[in-house]
Amino acid sequence: MSSHVTLTLDPAFRVAPVRRRTFGAFVEHLGRCVYTGIFEPEHPQADAQGFRTDVLALTRELGVSSVRYPGGNFVSGYRWEDGVGPVEDRPVRHDLAWHSSDPNTVGIDEFVDWARAAEVEPMYAVNLGTRGVQEALDVLEYANAPAGTHLSDQRGAHGHDAPHDIRLWCLGNEMDGPWQIGHKTAEEYARLATETARAMRMEDPDLELIVCGSSSSSMDTFGAWENTVLTEAYDHVDMISAHAYYSEKDGDQASFLASADDMDHFIDSVVATADHVRAKLKRDKRIMISFDEWNIWYQHRAESRPPSGDDWPVAPVLLEDVYSAQDAVVFGNLLISLLRHSDRVASASLAQLVNVIAPIMTEPGGAAWKQTTFHPFALTSQHARGEVLDVRLDAPAFDNARFGTSSAADAVATWDEADGALAVFVVNRGADAPLALDAELGSFGDLELVEALTLHHEDPYAANTKDAPDTVVPAANDSVAIADGRLTGELPAISWSLIRLARRA
Ligand code: AHR
Repeated sequence: MSSHVTLTLDPAFRVAPVRRRTFGAFVEHLGRCVYTGIFEPEHPQADAQGFRTDVLALTRELGVSSVRYPGGNFVSGYRWEDGVGPVEDRPVRHDLAWHSSDPNTVGIDEFVDWARAAEVEPMYAVNLGTRGVQEALDVLEYANAPAGTHLSDQRGAHGHDAPHDIRLWCLGNEMDGPWQIGHKTAEEYARLATETARAMRMEDPDLELIVCGSSSSSMDTFGAWENTVLTEAYDHVDMISAHAYYSEKDGDQASFLASADDMDHFIDSVVATADHVRAKLKRDKRIMISFDEWNIWYQHRAESRPPSGDDWPVAPVLLEDVYSAQDAVVFGNLLISLLRHSDRVASASLAQLVNVIAPIMTEPGGAAWKQTTFHPFALTSQHARGEVLDVRLDAPAFDNARFGTSSAADAVATWDEADGALAVFVVNRGADAPLALDAELGSFGDLELVEALTLHHEDPYAANTKDAPDTVVPAANDSVAIADGRLTGELPAISWSLIRLARRA
């Protein structure tokens, strides 16, 4: 097997502009994401509203663009009214999705205040599990209507005179999933989502609406669900959601390393289905994808098991996966896939932001630290600029049970013509050998190397912890060089790299 990867890059291989919304995240009332995650009034670094300023700073450093809230499975049993008004009057409720208790000390007003402080765009999901059109209209009026209506005046009385101006709205969550409270058939959901969207647009025709797609490409209803839902909702929505989680299962490392192949297939299939409906309905508009849950998630581990019986704790430790170097490489590869599909993926949300399958971890009353996955996200968000460029590559293949064979390398690039900045994001997904990198860059003009960073660890299962938060961090890759328009270097086995080049002044 050859151990070379040849990248063919050209400024003409344009896909679409880099979309900032690719770098969204997700905050759900789940485990310690909200309580002791973003919000902990007793914490020494809490601000006047109780938000952890260390988490706010890390959220900004992560480069998050938008944050989806309040769920997730949680939203399908949620009453938004419980989370507004004087905190002492708010009810404690059982959250059936995660078998927890919610004190409702954080609701839509606090979340929007937090989002402004974090410099992210709020994205709000309405409950289409146990509720319907009226409640969606009510929360929309509360959030966005100018003063002078019953609910917008209530918002004003709660200290928020100015409308929250939330533009992105999810019409429920994972309604295809039998685990969802108020789970529906595609026909039932299509009807409800369409009527909800139609009514919400009567209030504000410019809202950006996301209808639920499949919660995974392995659902039996995958494809048929999108077809049914879009056939009815096409004229009333802008995007359809996609959710995907990956993990190494039963020691099958090779399939895990190739996870982005599934994401590619998922996106391509939803695009094909959406465009089939477009042709069928004879419409001009194209439906875009909101990949509003994606991540590595070890769902089978004990950390993901909700409490049971009489135990309904507030903010239990749930889904607190600890990510390895290998997880970060697969994660970086998923970002490559999302970027590569920027022509149709208009928005994406990493699930989730803090503590719950998250890049940021916190200790109640204590430290906050970065998981391995923090780094590829932050670097991609920071350096993906200008136009996304497709990268043709020639690399050895490796066998795996899930996909048959997969390319040992995967890459995408971005090119900011005005600034002359080229960023190449590349993974070596092979577990056994380094890859010698070779790329011809002549058509970009005279470029110089700015930096080459590689995330890799001799032990692919090494992780960051509170006491050793820098065990796995990107490091300078001194093998990378450019000479006579040719980029060369070595990509270690199981590694993610960012190579930055700039037009020579
Ligand atoms: O992100 C964790 C959970 O995964 C969400 O609540 C749900 O939407 C999905 O199944």
